[in-house]
Amino acid sequence: MLDSSIVERHLAGMRYEFERTTPPDGFPQLPMIPAGRYTDPAFLALEREHLWKKAWLYACHLDEVGNPGDFLLWTRTGSPIVIVHGKDGVIRAFYNSCRHRGAPIVQTECGHVDGFVCKYHGWTYGLDGKLVNLRDRRDFPNLDMSAYPLNAVRCERLGNWIFVNEDPQAEPLLEHLKPIPGYLAEIRPHETRFVHKKSYHVKCNVKVLLDAFLEVYHLKSIHQNTVDRFLDHRGTTISLWPHGHSYMLTPNRRPDWEDPGTKGMPKLPTNEMIAKNNPSFHFYPNLVTPVADSGIPFILFWPKGEREMEIEVQWFSPDWGDGPLHPLWEKRIENFERILYEDTQFAEQIQVSVESPGFKGMNLNYQERRIYHWHEELDRRIGVERIPAHLRVEPLLGAYVAA
Ligand code: FES
Ligand SMILES: [Fe+2]
Repeated sequence: MLDSSIVERHLAGMRYEFERTTPPDGFPQLPMIPAGRYTDPAFLALEREHLWKKAWLYACHLDEVGNPGDFLLWTRTGSPIVIVHGKDGVIRAFYNSCRHRGAPIVQTECGHVDGFVCKYHGWTYGLDGKLVNLRDRRDFPNLDMSAYPLNAVRCERLGNWIFVNEDPQAEPLLEHLKPIPGYLAEIRPHETRFVHKKSYHVKCNVKVLLDAFLEVYHLKSIHQNTVDRFLDHRGTTISLWPHGHSYMLTPNRRPDWEDPGTKGMPKLPTNEMIAKNNPSFHFYPNLVTPVADSGIPFILFWPKGEREMEIEVQWFSPDWGDGPLHPLWEKRIENFERILYEDTQFAEQIQVSVESPGFKGMNLNYQERRIYHWHEELDRRIGVERIPAHLRVEPLLGAYVAA
């Protein structure tokens, strides 16, 4: 159970936001985010190396590798990574790279195996990655098989959600995500079930679109006939958390409002904050989840190059027992997609605009401070000394970060 004083603090935060007439006393004027952070190839290379290759990233749900031997090939960082359910029930991740001469140990996006047999020369690995057999053993007289397991990738879970990290030194996932796991404990991440996933290709830098999901300043214009009818952005309260994570809680216009599109669906146990408002968690760097008691969408932002990205939406449901999925899910996913198109409609034109001499940088206001927080964290991860002075973001929000 989330401590009731935490729930009360966020509810009080919404009341405060409704009443304020300016940003809080002492809140800094946020400097411009330089345009080059969205366009400069050298900066984007630093971002790739120090952020994406070293971050905890959501990979898949347990249902996608539900039984021992089930595997999934995951390539979102550019490295081929096999996620596999072991005979001991442990989910592990390995590079899809045979220790002999680098051939792939799996060729399909998903499947079921008893072990991995490399199709090039037949080296064989257990589901735990150990090298268990190789052909013509006599021709490797001195090879210590125990020294050549598949190279492991860090793989840890928050409930049924599986994350990977290519940095062997990364701190444990649940430690790194704090305080998010505590906030989500009530909705029982270990009982969620996988429902659906779909990706959309967009021609912009990944941050152009991610930014739109870190603020609700845009509700009144691009979601005028959808989200804005239900949510009142003037009451949005924001928490900036360590490691770049953050949280945004937006009140429903009517406190007793219940989404008619979810009536009768199985509900997760939760608290007043989540049931009667719109909470949205951001797991740094690229996962946004507006959690609801009737279902959880993970909105994921994946770079596909300097000016191309994919936005992926995965849906999870409370356990619905035996039988088919609730019939309202289809409509619900469709409605969400409509809102997603509203969010993506300007992205490609924004990319062209930020690349033009007409654009110098982003001017952010108080309610857009999660974007600034995101960029501050990026500089910490890259290491500010590696970043040319004109592309840095001045660290200003440290005093506002609290778990
Ligand atoms: S590359 Fe895998 S057995 Fe040769
Ligand atoms: Fe939006």
